[in-house]
Amino acid sequence: MSDVGQAIAFASRLYGQRASTAYAGYVRRDPLALLRLRPGRANPYPVYDRIRAGGRLVPTPLGNWVSASYRVCDAVLRNRRFGVRPADSGAAGPDEFDLSFLEMNPPDHTRLRRLALPAFSPRAVAGYQDRIERTVNDLLDRAGAAGGFDLVTAFAAPLPITVITDLLGIPDADSREFARYGTVIGSALDGITSLRHARQLQASSAALERLFGKLFALRQREPRDDIISHLAAAGADQVEPGEILPLCVLLLVAGFETTVNLIGNSVLALLGHPRQWRDLCADPTALAAKAVEETLRYDSPVQLPSRVALESVELDGKALAPGQWVVTLIGGANRDPEAYDNPGTFDIHRVAVADHLAFSSGIHYCLGQPLARLEATIALRMLAERMPGLSQAGPVRRRNTSTIRGPARMPVSTGRTRAPQRIPAGR
Ligand code: HEM
Repeated sequence: MSDVGQAIAFASRLYGQRASTAYAGYVRRDPLALLRLRPGRANPYPVYDRIRAGGRLVPTPLGNWVSASYRVCDAVLRNRRFGVRPADSGAAGPDEFDLSFLEMNPPDHTRLRRLALPAFSPRAVAGYQDRIERTVNDLLDRAGAAGGFDLVTAFAAPLPITVITDLLGIPDADSREFARYGTVIGSALDGITSLRHARQLQASSAALERLFGKLFALRQREPRDDIISHLAAAGADQVEPGEILPLCVLLLVAGFETTVNLIGNSVLALLGHPRQWRDLCADPTALAAKAVEETLRYDSPVQLPSRVALESVELDGKALAPGQWVVTLIGGANRDPEAYDNPGTFDIHRVAVADHLAFSSGIHYCLGQPLARLEATIALRMLAERMPGLSQAGPVRRRNTSTIRGPARMPVSTGRTRAPQRIPAGR
């Protein structure tokens, strides 16, 4: 088919899907469709409650399944009879963006995940602490100088971008370019929204391919202690040439669109609960990590992965056929009253009974979680130490997305007219 023909076919599929979602949500009140529309995106939690009230595992109008139950979501994510793509499907399709092993089943998933694992071990991540503290200090110096700033664009977004470009070994001079294209690709985690978006994705993907290709060749010749150099040193038995680029892109973007929302959602919840913000400011070292964990549970940055049955499975007394999908609403599972007392209450002093599912579970459990936890904990601790007078200074604008959840804009005031004092790194 010609390029124009392909574009028309793609656009009619995309806009056809949008129209049927709007009909199913607004007219038939289908909860899964409602989650994809503006009201569900603004506040999905009542929709999750409705789904859970219908049972732990509920059939969808399109012949699949959905669950907002902690027990069922955890069981599906851990069950090896489910995968991230159907048993007989090949690589990513033409409308999909190849996100490496995030979208692979074993054995390819196991092989590629193993290759990336060492860079994100708890020990390796602990070694990044000083660099993260320096970055947070620099960002707060700059952001706080005027007495007010946008928490998302001036702080929560640049932090993970700076950290991951640094860990990958992207030279400073190129990091803006990598970040620009990576952000466009990260936006596809929530699906492709328009033909224009699809074109931007294609262009960004081509640009990243070029940039990573150059960097990869450089690190083969002159290796350093960074992730790309380690990948470049891997043998042909571990990774095929065509698998390298998607793997680099996954590592670049997986942290962008997620950690930014963890920091944004934490600050939003804390400033909305001033007593808990004051508690954090009174003891940032003890409470920052707890505030991060409670935010991951209460307002998860990733809301809905899904899994497909690779063979017949019985689940919660129901028979699932191969090829049927289960949408695991982890944002809803994390507020399941069967797993947590007062699940809709934000409480940084909570003694958790169940591990939240914000980083998923089973073999796809987030590889970058030690890094995400460290970045967010340092960000909250230093924010509380340096800007205890922080308050919201204008309306928050949420991202209009359903897989990813967080603020897009959040004006804050430091409560001071002069720049707050810098705290030396290493504390
Ligand atoms: C708050 C921040 C983050 C959240 C909430 C988050 C969440 C998740 C979730 C839910 C999954 C699994 C999706 C599924 O089960 O289908 C996942 C996978 C993954 N994450 Fe994260 N993530 C975060 C930060 C990061 C960071 C900083 C990195 C690394 C730079 C990263 C790298 C990955 C990778 C490589 C996978 C694929 C794992 C696999 O398929 O085996 N993530 N993440």
